[in-house]
Amino acid sequence: EKGTYPHFMLKEIDEQPIVMRNIIREYQDEKGELKLDKDIRKAMQKADRIYIIAAGTSYHAGLVGKEFLEKLSNIPVEVHVASEFSYNMPLLSEKPLFIFISQSGETADSRAVLVKIKELGHPALTLTNVPGSTLSREANYTLPLHAGPEIAVASTKAYTAQIAVLAVLAVDTARAKGIKLDFDPLQELAIVANAMEVITNQKEELEQLARDYFAITRNAFYIGRSTDYHVAQEAALKLKEISYIQAEGFAGGELKHGTIALIEDGTPVIALTTQENVNYSIRGNVQEVVARGAHALIISSKGLEQDGDAFVLPPVHELLTPLVSVIPMQLLAYYAALHRDCDVDKPRNLAKSVTVE
Ligand code: F6R
Repeated sequence: EKGTYPHFMLKEIDEQPIVMRNIIREYQDEKGELKLDKDIRKAMQKADRIYIIAAGTSYHAGLVGKEFLEKLSNIPVEVHVASEFSYNMPLLSEKPLFIFISQSGETADSRAVLVKIKELGHPALTLTNVPGSTLSREANYTLPLHAGPEIAVASTKAYTAQIAVLAVLAVDTARAKGIKLDFDPLQELAIVANAMEVITNQKEELEQLARDYFAITRNAFYIGRSTDYHVAQEAALKLKEISYIQAEGFAGGELKHGTIALIEDGTPVIALTTQENVNYSIRGNVQEVVARGAHALIISSKGLEQDGDAFVLPPVHELLTPLVSVIPMQLLAYYAALHRDCDVDKPRNLAKSVTVE
């Protein structure tokens, strides 16, 4: 079912604009208005705090989702790695709502948390690509991702689908609470879909960048601030899991508190800048690493770009930049793995769904 694609991962990267359009279609009514299950809306309205529980890439989507829910719908949100939450549960608020994010809906670490919080009598909503999966059946509510089957072990289109559905959920909640927003997620996601297409049509450029930066290195660092930091973490996970290059995502401001000691002559540092309020400061961080010999690559949003940036992203709403900035990151990881003769779709030691704790 790969068709003409050499790998599922590349096919799934390319499917992301279609997935955005599926989500727009599935989450709108006949009048083109945003549509969401009424029971989910009520549960969101009732909650005094949201606890997002997930693992790996889905956890990284949760970090972006927290921003939507806090900034748009004004609900405090905590995002937790499932395997940590199970053994070290934080103090819970009076009326918590748990949101499980899971492509497969089968991740045992997340399920362990779901079992515990159900015992405590708290409500749960699962965002999953597989309605009918364990996490979907055992939660009170489900929001489907509509990404279609994801076969490659490295998650790509599920991540962007999770973020898009979280944006829809945040806006629906805001409206239910009477918060006025000048942000129409369905319109903005349509712009995102087109922007994604622009990037997936620039594969040759990205393949060349992967060659220049990752062909022989042992390690790589991704830096970003604010929302870009979340994407930096996801970018590092993508690179390390399929190319076996040791990669970490760091907050630009934390570099000088330790990480900068690792920068040597030629160390690849990929910096992401899509947020106006941190554009200046992340560029300062790039100068700091370049002064120590780093081989820096800057990816910026149109409007924030400067001479020398390696790749410029088409403009989208500032809240939704992770949906487009992650695409070159996925493609860089893909080509890095390809050039290093790695098994792109089935990296060593990994399974598509992790059903043991
Ligand atoms: C990374 C990756 C994993 C999964 C994680 C959670 O590319 O695929 O990190 O994101 O194992 O899986 P789900 O979302 O199925 O719960």
